[in-house]
Amino acid sequence: MASRFIDLRSDTVTRPTPGMRRAIAEADVGDDMQGEDPTVNALEARMCELLGMEAAVYACSGTQSNQFGIRAHCLPGDELLIDEFGHIANWEAGSPAVLSGVTVRTVRGRDGMIDVSDLEGKIRPDNQHYCVTRLVCVENTTNHGGGVAYPLEQMARIGKWSREHGLKTHIDGARIFNACIAKGYTAKEFVSHAETISICFSKGLGCPMGSVLVGDAESIKKARRARKQFGGALRQAGMMAASAIYALDHHIDRLAEDHINARVFAEAIADINGIIIDPAKVETNLVFFELHPRHGSAAELAVRMKSRGVNIYATGPQRLRACTHLDVTKDELLTAAKILRDCVTGDRVSVEVPASLAY
Ligand SMILES: Cc1ncc(COP(=O)(O)O)c(C=O)c1O
Repeated sequence: MASRFIDLRSDTVTRPTPGMRRAIAEADVGDDMQGEDPTVNALEARMCELLGMEAAVYACSGTQSNQFGIRAHCLPGDELLIDEFGHIANWEAGSPAVLSGVTVRTVRGRDGMIDVSDLEGKIRPDNQHYCVTRLVCVENTTNHGGGVAYPLEQMARIGKWSREHGLKTHIDGARIFNACIAKGYTAKEFVSHAETISICFSKGLGCPMGSVLVGDAESIKKARRARKQFGGALRQAGMMAASAIYALDHHIDRLAEDHINARVFAEAIADINGIIIDPAKVETNLVFFELHPRHGSAAELAVRMKSRGVNIYATGPQRLRACTHLDVTKDELLTAAKILRDCVTGDRVSVEVPASLAY
């Protein structure tokens, strides 16, 4: 039997477990557009309870629920502030501009995390020449910032500052439960400093799809209308909501295992000549590292590794990301680390980088 491909590109590559598939098959469903899908309703109620917030709306994807949040808080001509590595700023295809007429202003934080000192002075004066600064977006855990998690006090400072200046705060909490496990706070504590949060079920939690926007009733009412306008309203979505409920019951605590495995992988590659990484900086399930240019480009390395059965992302000319998740074991990570070592230190065969992998 052919050996399994080791897929470290993302935690989005996970497939539903047998238990999750059973939950999907057995889900009670109805027309969600009429508010009649009992499983979607149960999921939304559960998220409100878990986060101590008033309302929630189920979404197809994290991009979609982030964009609901932006539309709920902003008007055309408004501006949002976000770290320069933010997913909303870089990987959502310009949606704030396309869908809501909102300008994105990036600020330079550290490891994808901003603090009040980065925001100070960034609110536009009340003058007809400027757009209106309306929203602060915080990503926790940071993805391209390095997979790190915000300290709770830092979030509290941001929330306080935003409220004092009449701004709203939206959290892109695609991997919020990874942050909670890494830092020891609850999601409720973290979101108490913001107006809305988007949470993904399709990443470390292992669902086939789905995200949720949770927040105050007024914002979620606006988000629900945005969902319709963006073509994302759902019908018998209870089958997917059932996967999310299953994941909340079974897949949160196990994220700790992904964090340990990420550290194991980081330590296993740290002494490779040509790889630059500080394993101590690996806090969650995302492992970023640099390849010295004398060994070629990150994309070339990704192609070489793929030919040896390991899938990994080049996220910059010399930067790569490996991601741990429920479909990859510690042994597979050690195998991947060995293959990485061979690909970096062995003879460099020339490879062609397909456009889809080029950075
Ligand atoms: C931090 C972050 N936010 C949002 C998203 C968007 O999620 P989706 O791919 O479901 O649209 C991602 C996807 O990887 C992400 O990493």
